[in-house]
Amino acid sequence: MKTMLESGLATPLNPEKRPGCYLFRSHPSDVARVENRTFIASKREEDAGPTNNWVDPEKLKAEMTKRYTGSMKGRTMYVIPFSMGPIGSPISKIGVELTDSPYVVANMRIMTRIGADVLKVLGADGEFVKCLHSVGKPLAKGEKDSTWPCAPSIDDKYISHFPEERTIWSYGSGYGGNALLGKKCFALRIASVQARDEGWLAEHMLILKITDPKGKSHYVCGAFPSACGKTNLAMLIPTIPGWTVETIGDDISWMKFGKDGRLYAINPEAGFFGVAPGTSMQSNKNAMLSVEKNTIFTNVALTDDGDIWWEGIGSDAPKHLIDWQGNDWTPESKTPAAHANARFTAPASQCPVIAPEWEDPAGVPISAILVGGRRASTIPLVNESFDWGHGIFLGSIMGSEITAAAISDSVGKVRRDPFAMLPFIGYHVGDYMQHWLDIGEKTDKANLPRIFYVNWFRKSKEGKFLWPVFVDNSRVLKWVVERIAGEADAVNTPIGNMPTTDAIDISGLDMTQDEMKELLAIDVEGWKKEVASIRENYKTYGAKLPAELNRQLEELEKRLG
Ligand code: OXD
Ligand code: MN
Repeated sequence: MKTMLESGLATPLNPEKRPGCYLFRSHPSDVARVENRTFIASKREEDAGPTNNWVDPEKLKAEMTKRYTGSMKGRTMYVIPFSMGPIGSPISKIGVELTDSPYVVANMRIMTRIGADVLKVLGADGEFVKCLHSVGKPLAKGEKDSTWPCAPSIDDKYISHFPEERTIWSYGSGYGGNALLGKKCFALRIASVQARDEGWLAEHMLILKITDPKGKSHYVCGAFPSACGKTNLAMLIPTIPGWTVETIGDDISWMKFGKDGRLYAINPEAGFFGVAPGTSMQSNKNAMLSVEKNTIFTNVALTDDGDIWWEGIGSDAPKHLIDWQGNDWTPESKTPAAHANARFTAPASQCPVIAPEWEDPAGVPISAILVGGRRASTIPLVNESFDWGHGIFLGSIMGSEITAAAISDSVGKVRRDPFAMLPFIGYHVGDYMQHWLDIGEKTDKANLPRIFYVNWFRKSKEGKFLWPVFVDNSRVLKWVVERIAGEADAVNTPIGNMPTTDAIDISGLDMTQDEMKELLAIDVEGWKKEVASIRENYKTYGAKLPAELNRQLEELEKRLG
């Protein structure tokens, strides 16, 4: 940090207000994950499948080697041995990242477990994922560094994965998932391949612990596409008396079978890399309390007294700020003060509701998996799958409506995002779905988590959200837990097991039973359109579409009549 403070890369925040916190501003061209420059360079193109950018690994290596040659000149190269998951856990894996970015080092220190203890576990011949990263901006002798070095144009950036070699090469970007290689690159893209080969699951899921008033706890995973409120759900403060939610993880879940045949999950990360705008004491109090100290903020606005501010933080914008690009900003300014994808990097241990067992090397047994997306119509508030195969079908069809697409005729269409893994599956999506189905064959049915399809975003014909506010999701979680315990009613419908209208506790809510009925209504015509759209999507899988998914689709069509 000292070097970054000296070079002007890091801005210290006011230690009275945010002790141990720093602000960084990225280059305006380097603000998000770059999916179109993310490559899965498996040996055979058909192993990457239709959802990935495939490039021949030899060609890609040759091209990138040219870029890498001399790219770290004038910089310090750091070697970061890191553990994804508690050091030494049988579910954890080790990586080593070489990087020329001290910003990456500071973030990896929070997001993963790094250092000598990892090397001890690795030993002389341990297995590790090889991660190479360069910002792609060599420094000539005497040249002054820019505050956010990176390769200037998008075409100069590469986020490359060599799945068979368990290797990641990243070049040209210093930001987030492009550069903190433990996160999406390793813990999802490479780990999904390791999981396929070794019989476990590496998933884009939050993990939460929910405890009922009698003190009985369950662990639940949730797969939602980016920007559906995963972090908020993971840190939820229940509105129903006597229930508590604690956090195990907010983004990634690695699940392996325990000796008892159940799936046990760990959060492979040690921190939160959360989206700042929209986070407030009202939307996510526990996230706000997590970022009070020892946190790195990237692309948020700076107040005159050395604190942070962003749109949706819950207080009016001060009269003057320095915006995310380092310019003066006032409420009259035409541009947002914080970038829409501004982030905080905070230690998970600082979360007031982190569960005491969040670092248990054995992991936590998963009782339920929630899947879902942002859907204004058709998909009801909650719907339980009939069995594992039907649950995997629901995972394969989830996704969100496109709200602001570059290609305007896509607006309103559904972007199917199987298990929220579309940008993160390191191999063929058809094989990935088959892997989920195969997992169900490895244990007794009774040991498998139950799968629920949820949609917090259904709207009325007038365009109003039908489900009151996010914090009330605990009411749906309550029904989920009661189903697992065999205590809640459900009706068997063509789309799954649905709560009876009075099964979800809406006491104290400004909501009528009629509104609940609308939220839980089965829109048969809408579902028929859904079937046609799923069929279209399944065509992209080609010959690798698992037969079971096709069967599930046909069964659904039959049940709809
Ligand atoms: C994330 C994402 O940053 O899913 O977690 O985009
Ligand atoms: Mn994510």
